[in-house]
Amino acid sequence: MAAITLKDIRKTYGDGFLAVKGVSLDIADGEFVILVGPSGCGKSTLLRMIVGLEDITSGELRIGDKVVNDKAPRDRHLAMVFQNYALYPHLTVFENIAFPLRLQKGKFTEEQVREKVEFAANTLELQDHLQRKPANLSGGQRQRVAMGRAIVREANAFLFDEPLSNLDAKLRGQMRTEIARMQRRLGTTTVYVTHDQTEAMTLGDRVAVLRKGELQQVASPRGLYEQPVNLFVAGFIGSPPMNFLPGEVDGDTLHLPVADVPISPELKEKLGDRKLVIVGLRPEHFEDASLTKDSREGVVAFDVNVDVTEWLGSDLYAYIPFETHADVASKLEELDRDLDGEGMRTQMVVALDSESRVRDGDQASLWFDPAKMMVFDPEGGENLTYDAGKVREVDQQNEQDRKASIQRAQEREAAKAS
Ligand SMILES: Nc1ncnc2c1ncn2[C@@H]1O[C@H](COP(=O)(O)OP(=O)(O)OP(=O)(O)O)[C@@H](O)[C@H]1O
Ligand SMILES: [Mg+2]
Repeated sequence: MAAITLKDIRKTYGDGFLAVKGVSLDIADGEFVILVGPSGCGKSTLLRMIVGLEDITSGELRIGDKVVNDKAPRDRHLAMVFQNYALYPHLTVFENIAFPLRLQKGKFTEEQVREKVEFAANTLELQDHLQRKPANLSGGQRQRVAMGRAIVREANAFLFDEPLSNLDAKLRGQMRTEIARMQRRLGTTTVYVTHDQTEAMTLGDRVAVLRKGELQQVASPRGLYEQPVNLFVAGFIGSPPMNFLPGEVDGDTLHLPVADVPISPELKEKLGDRKLVIVGLRPEHFEDASLTKDSREGVVAFDVNVDVTEWLGSDLYAYIPFETHADVASKLEELDRDLDGEGMRTQMVVALDSESRVRDGDQASLWFDPAKMMVFDPEGGENLTYDAGKVREVDQQNEQDRKASIQRAQEREAAKAS
């Protein structure tokens, strides 16, 4: 097991395309790091450079304390699990898992091979399937065989490239918890590429967000969600996505298309002399006023016309069209393209309590707490309300929780073994 350190890693492909533009990242020993970003942002390229399937154009890659830029993949002792896990159809599950051990001819006795395969099979609950052929397994079981292969190699780290994207939603959920459990149990450093929101938010100790080959922010899932550094991260993390509204500064008032917000002295300072900003509000920051009888202090209340509603059991989504401001429209369209979005930036989505009676075509009374509001620069997109101290606090808490949960997992293992 080992730490992985990336220092100003770049990749220029043979045709001159600059796919990774100087990425630096410290991955601690035993840490679970997620790489996310829209299609084509360089996630697979980065992973393939770590594992050694792709040359590093410049920069330094360390595994443990060794620079491995020029080491062949097999000398890096990493195990990679791909989206299309290539199993050998003519071999049993046992032999598929044992395959990497058999490749190292003569290194392991038959007894050792059996021991390692059985350990992996127990970890992944494949004990009952060892004599079966891959064709007769479910998608999730096949995925586990591929992971078993990674486990027997006792690699320094696991690298996953969208391993679950071929599975249906339910199985994906099961495998997600399985991977999390396996990683805790083995305590192996893991780098996991995905563009699935849920995987990014639930699996990782830290999440690294990439955009066009550049790292935007690396933080705990909660750190990213609560304190995104810019519009891109804010729009990428969260589902349904954050609402972006034009905000016109007028003295001590911020005019939004749906409501007027008083500007606190604190916010005023952050706004500087900007006249126009982009305001971010997450769907769940809105409440249905008719459900909260006690009037709350300091909230911004307003009435809007609701276009469409969707009742999902746990929430009620209400869609509210608004007029955008010409000066921010192009910035938001650009953002939408970067995010592979659907060009829906002129309607707001609010997630209300599922008991809400708001329906299509209704006028609804809503409120939100302006302290939850994020404010972005309309040119550069940086988050003017970003609070680095808060992120550190959240990340530290997350790190403590992670250590505690690894310890619990290992104590459980030890208790089982004795
Ligand atoms: N062999 C290659 N030659 C030239 N350009 C390449 C090559 N492989 C990838 N690219 C380009 O590098 C960029 C990053 O590709 P990469 O496969 O790393 O993206 P990704 O983030 O994994 O995307 P996806 O989510 O679609 O898998 C893309 O713009 C792609 O077109
Ligand atoms: Mg990819």
